[in-house]
Amino acid sequence: MLSSTEKKRLAAEAAYRHLEEGMVLGIGTGSTVNQLIDVLIERRIRLEGAVSSSVQTSERLRAARIPELDLNAAGDLPLYIDGADEATPSGMLIKGGGAALTREKIIAAASRRFICIVDDSKVVGTLGRYPLPVEVIPMARSYVARQLVGLGGQPVWREGVVTDNGNAILDVHHLHLDEPAEFEAAVNGIVGVVTVGLFARRGADTLIVAGDGGVRTLDLRP
Ligand code: 5RP
Repeated sequence: MLSSTEKKRLAAEAAYRHLEEGMVLGIGTGSTVNQLIDVLIERRIRLEGAVSSSVQTSERLRAARIPELDLNAAGDLPLYIDGADEATPSGMLIKGGGAALTREKIIAAASRRFICIVDDSKVVGTLGRYPLPVEVIPMARSYVARQLVGLGGQPVWREGVVTDNGNAILDVHHLHLDEPAEFEAAVNGIVGVVTVGLFARRGADTLIVAGDGGVRTLDLRP
């Protein structure tokens, strides 16, 4: 039986094979991505640089001496690699457990290919068991929470957490997301919402899942 850390490492190693020397890489946030950064250090690949999705990842990139690039200067990216909190086999995701969802979503949107790396505990048939993170403007927190109740969820304020953008997080419990793309649009439509951590409209292009039996790579979009 592999530990979850060992599985994350396997997924990161599999994603590494998609990198090329001189590339600009979009890079996510979390313990799975940290495994990838460790692999980048060990293999000594020379990237042109990386666009980071969080202060936490930026610090790790600095320690690894990987140049950090501004997305505004970098333009569209060839590749974005990130983890997820839940993933369907069709590449739809819940993200934002590390509160980095907004920058992650921006980088995903600006990338031609999004490879999501997860251990097999994250794969579900229907999204929603993991509480769905929503980043909100602080003054709109209670208003947005009431609207989310109206959509059938049970929002809980992640107290004490301030995102890298200075905002609050609501985690929405008790969802069963049969129609995730519609739900994503509905939450995005609430005034005061910055981002919802539902990646249904722009999901992963490739899903790499590591389990006890090794790594499975699902190529979902041409
Ligand atoms: C951060 C994220 C992460 O990708 C997600 O929380 C998975 O984290 P980990 O790799 O530590 O399990 O969305 O906002």
